Amino acid sequence: MTTLKLPGMIDAHVHLREPGGTHKESVTSGTAAALAGGVVGVLEMPNTNPATTDADSFTLKHKLYRSKSRCDFGLFLGSDGRNLDALNKLGNRAAGLKLYLDNTYGDLCIQHPALLEPIWERWPGPGPICVHAESTQSLSQALSLTARHSQRLHICHVSREENLRLILAAKEQGLPVTFEVTPHHLFFTVEDAKRLGPFGMMKPSLGTPHDREALWQHLDAVDCIATDHAPHTREEKLGAEPPPGVPGLETALPLLLTAVDQGKLDISRLIELTYLNPLRIFPITPPPDTWIEVDPNARYQLSNCSLQTRCGWTPFEDMWVLGRVVRTWFRGQMAFELGKICAAPGTGHDMVQGFPVNQTEFRNHT
Ligand code: NCD
Ligand code: ZN
Ligand code: ZN
Ligand code: ZN
Repeated sequence: MTTLKLPGMIDAHVHLREPGGTHKESVTSGTAAALAGGVVGVLEMPNTNPATTDADSFTLKHKLYRSKSRCDFGLFLGSDGRNLDALNKLGNRAAGLKLYLDNTYGDLCIQHPALLEPIWERWPGPGPICVHAESTQSLSQALSLTARHSQRLHICHVSREENLRLILAAKEQGLPVTFEVTPHHLFFTVEDAKRLGPFGMMKPSLGTPHDREALWQHLDAVDCIATDHAPHTREEKLGAEPPPGVPGLETALPLLLTAVDQGKLDISRLIELTYLNPLRIFPITPPPDTWIEVDPNARYQLSNCSLQTRCGWTPFEDMWVLGRVVRTWFRGQMAFELGKICAAPGTGHDMVQGFPVNQTEFRNHT
């Protein structure tokens, strides 16, 4: 078998559910899923329980990742609009600041638009302000705040043509704006949502065929592909009020390699979208001596049975793909081979280039 050597992916948007939701996923199971999917670095979202919004919750999460992560990581800080002091104090330890401008899973949604301006004024960086802004109104708000303040803005999981157009226009005006798209919005539409029921429910919901086409047509303007890996259990999905979100760490690369085979993008563009651009957008350094080997000719069906994610299902089950992760080499060691995880918990490092923990107190932001 001839394998293709690629840099591992850096996934800028995952929910590994720890602390508070380890029945869905944990740092150890989620980072096992990452390595199996050819992902060597993950940026973790703050909508855990407790939410990552202050020094205690940030430090707690950081300790969990330092002792349990099997791949490199970075943590997002979250805001409910009332933790401005924490933003100043923790900015340089975070991959970025995550804001929820529309309702989604968790309770971090900022209901009051007036709470946003002070955040744009006070966020010290160096990471961007990242937004869940699926309504056109929220997106416009975030863009106009960014036009008035010197902040970088990163827009999560863009799925609608209308929003895509707003972002492209903002980029043309020279605003410091970047955005990501997810594999599920690239490969599914409302038609799949009907077939999948709760297992095809996520925020933003799946778009029309026209929306999906717009994403592919403007792939040249997309900054990165991030999975928004958002596992929930089957029981939760089959319950009366299924929570939004689908897992994605183990299916992204096979899907993208299949798209490469179909001529929808080339390998160098895939590397930009999944590795080089995340490193440009976020203040992170990638793990050294790290790469993946893929078999570009392996044709197979994605399956629930061969997953590392604790939730144990994928919305892409039974889909035919071309391209398999054979081995993941992580920090000089074989971390995954042919379905088996070899990396021990705790081998992952923090990718964020911040100051050491005990020096953050000395940082004086004005
Ligand atoms: C995410 C989750 O479950 O944490 N769900 C989702 O549908 N995307 C939250 C989010 O990213 O909006
Ligand atoms: Zn202002
Ligand atoms: Zn979101
Ligand atoms: Zn998310």
